[in-house]
Amino acid sequence: MRSPSVWLAACIGLAAASPLRPHDVHTLYPRQNASTPCALASAAVAAAPRAAVPTIPAELAYNCLTSVPLNATAGLRLLESIRPYIQWQSTLTWLKNPPAEYVEKVQGPVDVIGNLDKIEGKLQSKEYLNEYEFLWELYTSFAVAHDGHLNFIPDLVGGIFNFGRTVPLVSVSEDGKKLPAVFAYADVLQASFPNKTYEPSAVVSIDGQGVNAFLQNWSQWGSLQDRDALYNNVFFNLPSISLGPSGSGQGMFVGGGRARWVYPGPTTEITFANGTTSTYQNIARVLVSLRQVQDARTLVEQYITYSETGSDFVRPDPQSPHGSGDEVITETVTATPIPDPTVSVPGVTSTVAVGPTSTVTPPPGYPAPVITQTLNYIGGYYIDDAGYEDVAVLTIPSFVGVSGVQEDFQRIVTEFLALAKAAGKTKLIIDLQANGGGTILLGHDLFKQLFPSIEPFSASRFRAHDAPNFIGQQYSELAGQYPRDLDVANRSALEYVSSVFNYRSDVDLNRENFESWSDKYDQHKDASGDTFSSLIRWNLSDVLTPLNSGGINVTGYNNRANVTEQPFAASDIVILTDGYCASTCTLFTEMMRQQAGVKTIAMGGRSQPGPIQAIGGVKGANVFPWSYVQYLVEATYAESTEEEKAAYNATEMGLYKNYIPFERAAIGPNVNFRDAIREGDEGEREVPQQFVWEAADCRIFYTAEMTLAVEATWRAAADSAFGTGESKCVAGGIGGGAPVPPVPKPYGGRSRRGVEVSRRAAVPVLGRREEGLWERLDVWTNIAEANLDGDGIMLP
Ligand SMILES: *[C@@H]1O[C@H](CO)[C@@H](O)[C@H](O)[C@H]1NC(C)=O
Ligand SMILES: *[C@@H]1O[C@H](CO)[C@@H](O)[C@H](O)[C@H]1NC(C)=O
Ligand SMILES: *[C@@H]1O[C@H](CO)[C@@H](O)[C@H](O)[C@H]1NC(C)=O
Ligand SMILES: *[C@@H]1O[C@H](CO)[C@@H](O)[C@H](O)[C@H]1NC(C)=O
Ligand SMILES: *[C@@H]1O[C@H](CO)[C@@H](O)[C@H](O)[C@H]1NC(C)=O
Ligand SMILES: *[C@@H]1O[C@H](CO)[C@@H](O)[C@H](O)[C@H]1NC(C)=O
Ligand SMILES: *[C@@H]1O[C@H](CO)[C@@H](O)[C@H](O)[C@H]1NC(C)=O
Ligand SMILES: *[C@@H]1O[C@H](CO)[C@@H](O)[C@H](O)[C@H]1NC(C)=O
Ligand SMILES: *[C@@H]1O[C@H](CO)[C@@H](O)[C@H](O)[C@H]1NC(C)=O
Ligand SMILES: *[C@@H]1O[C@H](CO)[C@@H](O)[C@H](O)[C@H]1NC(C)=O
Repeated sequence: MRSPSVWLAACIGLAAASPLRPHDVHTLYPRQNASTPCALASAAVAAAPRAAVPTIPAELAYNCLTSVPLNATAGLRLLESIRPYIQWQSTLTWLKNPPAEYVEKVQGPVDVIGNLDKIEGKLQSKEYLNEYEFLWELYTSFAVAHDGHLNFIPDLVGGIFNFGRTVPLVSVSEDGKKLPAVFAYADVLQASFPNKTYEPSAVVSIDGQGVNAFLQNWSQWGSLQDRDALYNNVFFNLPSISLGPSGSGQGMFVGGGRARWVYPGPTTEITFANGTTSTYQNIARVLVSLRQVQDARTLVEQYITYSETGSDFVRPDPQSPHGSGDEVITETVTATPIPDPTVSVPGVTSTVAVGPTSTVTPPPGYPAPVITQTLNYIGGYYIDDAGYEDVAVLTIPSFVGVSGVQEDFQRIVTEFLALAKAAGKTKLIIDLQANGGGTILLGHDLFKQLFPSIEPFSASRFRAHDAPNFIGQQYSELAGQYPRDLDVANRSALEYVSSVFNYRSDVDLNRENFESWSDKYDQHKDASGDTFSSLIRWNLSDVLTPLNSGGINVTGYNNRANVTEQPFAASDIVILTDGYCASTCTLFTEMMRQQAGVKTIAMGGRSQPGPIQAIGGVKGANVFPWSYVQYLVEATYAESTEEEKAAYNATEMGLYKNYIPFERAAIGPNVNFRDAIREGDEGEREVPQQFVWEAADCRIFYTAEMTLAVEATWRAAADSAFGTGESKCVAGGIGGGAPVPPVPKPYGGRSRRGVEVSRRAAVPVLGRREEGLWERLDVWTNIAEANLDGDGIMLP
């Protein structure tokens, strides 16, 4: 982590446009062994300032990675071990042959299995120059699906280094009407100080390419599917900063989110509108100790597990693959998870103790909260400006998922809604910016707190194939031996009883119980030609709900059945997003829009006119870590007779018995287990929500002020939705009593599209600033530091 003074220096460095000094790249360090690229990287770490996560030039890291020779034998075994998990991905046929509108507006087709076949062919003929080239293609073969629930991050791609740039950017409109232009965030920041020394000049090109084309192309490395949401994710964004290491940091341009796995080249050259061109050295963060690393061989010995260490569910010794504990900084999931009834997905538990308090420091750029939670996953605010007295703001950048926090989340919503009503607030902004999801039933709880009289539709389905069928048969049979009762003393029995693989859990489309496992499994074909389970809905009055919700009863049911009063009319609520709304966030917004009729506002988007989507992240209804899939298979074997085991062995069930995918992954891999299906879409077509494009009701451009103080965004949202001021919608409109201005006027000048583009950032000078602001802005995506857990979450 850089110190505040270094961050400031970086800002001033940018201000002075200090070009790269040649010796930054070519300095010879004392411990350098010039004979190997990995020894050079190791020497650079030794010479770097001491830090928990040291930083070295990106090129040195890349050269080290690409010096590892291909091990085709290990590669073929890795591919073979991955294939069964991919069968659980619910959208394989839809990805291969998506609807025309999705292809036109969102993403092109992706043949996930075909990609694996292609890689296998190239491995067999040893076409890869080195191990990294193979693993990079393997990584991208999943990444191109743009499904935030689907990932496999190989060891060399994500476990040794993370890449980044050093110049965070923002995209802002001068007046909220002209098309936005790109600026260095440090320039915008300095211009907001009373002692500012210059006006920011827009970025016009990066590495010789036009800035829009460059950044749109770069944005495609992101996990979201929507192109405008991806574009927003390139930039510095206060709600993302508020999440600390569990958000996408200062944006994908500087290595936030999935961009941390992409080598950005040795340097980045930025040309500004005033004619200045500056070159910046790109960086690699070093995640493991390179002290003992002299070459590719020693790197492999320490950090790559080529030889299989477990089979037939014999667990590997967690110590053995990586040597001593302090050498390994990244988390690798290698062991089978132990189910914990308080956590919705068995596997990752954490022990963060938090509670609501209004004394915690608000995130940078946020005003003092009325109520908040220490991780800032949820907060309640009022807008402290004349004209906005009626407006309350509920910020939810995450549906948490960390065990123990669900109760706080539920309580904060209840308390804030009550406080806001008592304070005479009549309008509510729900700010979901940067929300990658979390616990599924927490999204349902929030919906029910707002609309107690509406029964959530929330239907989902999973892909029908051998493994879930056998697991469901076995789980359903075992569960039948126990009452559906929290008092069952045996914890592992509760795991079977409360599981989706027990047909007695959940309800069908008509909210009736399933009659048998085959009734739930169903195995019907949809329009894509693949086979699926019945549509499944949550039984929210189930007494076992707390086992699937991280400990809470959903509002409106069980001991919260007495909550019946709707706090705000639907027309007095508006949902605000930056397109980064994924997983549980999409389940929540689907209920809010489709069932309650609440309107949406989407911020930012590409620098072009027209409507954009509010919901740009994965709309899958349930993510499964591969380790949980393996756990399910293992648990099913454990409860089976020898005859059943022999029968399983002859099927897909026999293919999950090694630990290779976990040993070769930098962080735990995931699949999208369930599709979300909209009410009315059941039957013939059953299109997964992931493949549906939908415009937000209103689109608002970011201004410079919004990148410094989030209240400016809330004011624009209130103006547009509730008529507190002139609507700021540049596409669509909600009304709220105020006139909606037309889309940007044609302008013969700078834009090829004939629409006026901002020339200036128009930065307001802001008053007193807190100490330590710089340090708190400097976060990057570090999953090892984040406490993330949830059955409906997309990892940053
Ligand atoms: C440099 O690397 C080579 C090849 O791995 C090794 O044989 C040699 O001992 C190393 N020299 C030093 C000084 O570390
Ligand atoms: C390549 O991988 C295999 C396991 O698949 C392993 O036995 C072998 O030692 C590896 N080769 C090298 C050079 O590491
Ligand atoms: C402007 O003021 C800030 C905050 O007091 C300070 O950190 C910064 O160094 C000043 N910048 C210049 C150019 O004097
Ligand atoms: C041009 O603009 C950039 C970015 O705002 C700034 O860093 C640089 O100092 C400016 N150059 C000149 C010569 O003013
Ligand atoms: C960006 O463009 C380059 C070629 O200009 C291409 O190689 C690269 O794959 C593109 N990136 C993405 C994410 O599409
Ligand atoms: C708990 O239930 C599981 C599943 O039926 C069973 O295998 C196990 O023996 C039970 N344990 C105890 C202590 O009863
Ligand atoms: C839902 O769960 C409750 C309690 O576990 C159960 O009694 C009921 O049959 C289930 N199904 C429906 C349709 O309510
Ligand atoms: C959920 O509600 C039931 C009553 O319906 C109650 O027995 C149980 O204690 C509640 N659980 C929690 C965690 O509040
Ligand atoms: C619902 O009942 C609980 C006690 O069971 C009580 O604490 C709470 O205030 C009640 N809520 C409402 C809205 O009546
Ligand atoms: C199932 O296959 C495993 C090897 O993967 C073998 O060890 C085991 O004996 C087989 N079980 C039966 C019942 O055939």
